[in-house]
Amino acid sequence: MNNTFMEDFCEQMCNAIFTRQSNRQFLPERLSQVHETAILSFLDKLTVPFPHDASISFHKISQDAHVVYFKGPLQFIALESPKSVEDQAKLGFLGELIVLYAESLGVRTCWMGHYSKKQVSKIVYNDRLQESERQLFCIILLGYLPEKMGVLDRISKRRFSKKNRTIESFLHKDSQTDFPAFIRYALALSSKAPSAMNTQKWYYRVSIVENKYAVELGKNKGYKHFKWPYYDIDVGTAAAHIWLGLKVHNAIHSVTCSSDGHDSVWSFLVKDSGLSV
Ligand SMILES: Cc1cc2nc3c(=O)[nH]c(=O)nc-3n(C[C@H](O)[C@H](O)[C@H](O)COP(=O)(O)O)c2cc1C
Repeated sequence: MNNTFMEDFCEQMCNAIFTRQSNRQFLPERLSQVHETAILSFLDKLTVPFPHDASISFHKISQDAHVVYFKGPLQFIALESPKSVEDQAKLGFLGELIVLYAESLGVRTCWMGHYSKKQVSKIVYNDRLQESERQLFCIILLGYLPEKMGVLDRISKRRFSKKNRTIESFLHKDSQTDFPAFIRYALALSSKAPSAMNTQKWYYRVSIVENKYAVELGKNKGYKHFKWPYYDIDVGTAAAHIWLGLKVHNAIHSVTCSSDGHDSVWSFLVKDSGLSV
């Protein structure tokens, strides 16, 4: 596994968490050559600590291709995977790393689960058949912003921001409440993760397993949103933030993603040294 590649970017991606927000008004501009090359190279080398079967593709579009309900940018990334909740969770993790890397370069982003299926399928599949056991779940818009923030973004920033939620508000009733600062940091990053309907219905359970700290992240049991059936993708974005926060402290022992077929669960085991920090 090409671990050092991701290590090179961890810190800038953690920093991007504090400035990232979803954007719904973009300039009709192509990415600069420098940004496009950097993002394509990142996609090429992107490595995660688990096996996955997601397909990630970069697409340029024309100004008259209306892929989303607002003035979109001229490029996006498409994320496709098998349909299981575990695959959805992994797709969320991968997508969020791409979002944070792009943001760290100064490229602005928005996850989109609701988009024109017709337009996007035409662009992504280009007459190829979509395999029935796989699904194109989301796209990530990439571009630059006008100087003045669009009205949609102004409203959603003011009314819907959840960026100030406390870690305690996510803690499972069986969780330890006292844990080292670097775990608190990783959970603080995770509590800023985006979710499709901005409901952030996930929990953290910190425990000690065989002399190591363990952090469990899961979807609140059975949670469903009537407008967004793929909530495990959102939990995957939160998992990516925890991973970066632990990785930047060189504190990861192992990461697993599993599910009971309905809800995904992420488990992060922290290196031994965690107990003495
Ligand atoms: C998986 C996923 C899908 C999303 N789909 C949409 C969407 O279809 N339309 C939209 O306007 N925003 C979408 N968003 C963005 C969320 O609305 C946004 O992340 C949330 O409101 C929190 O705001 P923030 O990203 O500015 O912190 C999506 C986010 C995620 C993680």
